[in-house]
Amino acid sequence: MTKADIVWKILSGLAKVPAASVGEGLAPSNIALCKYWGKRNKTLNLPVSDSLSISLGQYGAKTRMSRIEAQNDEVILNGQPVQTGSFYQRVVDFLNLFRFDNHMVYRVETQSEVPIAAGLASSACGFAAMVLALNDLFQWQLDTSKLSILARLGSGSASRSLWHGFVHWQQGLRDDGMDSFGLPINVQWPDLCVGLMLIDQSEKPIGSREAMERSVRTSPYFHAWPGLVEQAITQTLNALDTHNFDQLGQTAESNALAMHALMHTSVPPVCYHLPQTLVAMKKIWTLREQGLPVYFTQDAGPNLKLLYLKENAKQIQSQLDSIIQVEPFASH
Ligand code: PMV
Repeated sequence: MTKADIVWKILSGLAKVPAASVGEGLAPSNIALCKYWGKRNKTLNLPVSDSLSISLGQYGAKTRMSRIEAQNDEVILNGQPVQTGSFYQRVVDFLNLFRFDNHMVYRVETQSEVPIAAGLASSACGFAAMVLALNDLFQWQLDTSKLSILARLGSGSASRSLWHGFVHWQQGLRDDGMDSFGLPINVQWPDLCVGLMLIDQSEKPIGSREAMERSVRTSPYFHAWPGLVEQAITQTLNALDTHNFDQLGQTAESNALAMHALMHTSVPPVCYHLPQTLVAMKKIWTLREQGLPVYFTQDAGPNLKLLYLKENAKQIQSQLDSIIQVEPFASH
């Protein structure tokens, strides 16, 4: 089964010509607290386990799409045309799924509030915003589970970027992945803060797709991973129910460290840490030993994302440099 098969399945009977001149989509970035790492189907981005995330409020992507008369797609990122490179290619590959006649060429204008490819989930919100913009352009009025499936075809974690707050991506069991989509979790936690600790914003040396595949293929610990995530999800859902911050933070941090352990034990190893990443981790552990409740998570990049409560925000910011504070439940 190909991505195109899934797109046709979802769009069967729906308009194949734009119903509006411009379509718009706005999607928040998301950070996994229980990670997606490893696929059971590489083509359709079907995961080996569920995952669970928190969205980053106003940090995300805003995309406008229109059909244009041109030879090639026009991709504009933060006001700058992009004509080559892996970002352009990923966008064009995704758009290839939505060309319903030979001349369907698009202009995609994205305003992204997150650094591209620095482990801050820029691809997640980017693909989700594109799917929302296409839905608006063609006036398909798809429900959120279908939008989530389409976003997943762009990048797995994009399936979680259609909602604010906490989101649970159910791995699903079907071969066609029609049961693998995100669902919002109905829990508000207004005091919760996510601190983006930017250590390095350059492009990562190896993409998550390749790193993930290598972990599945070569890490001797990979067999333990799906069970670990399942446990982490149960613990996180329990922490959300009871607003138990330490349980939430501890579970997220351990899960991130376990994911990086899979990478470190891959052959050849994948290591996204920079020396400053380790320095920051140790500092966080020391602060915790001193009684300050702060935890971190880390994705496919050297930056850390901190979890803490608003009451400790000032103290944490004074102890750690360059943190962008996000309040996921503030109005946006
Ligand atoms: O969706 P991808 O292919 O960019 O992979 C995301 C992988 C992690 O960010 C490391 C984990 C996650 O669940 O978001």
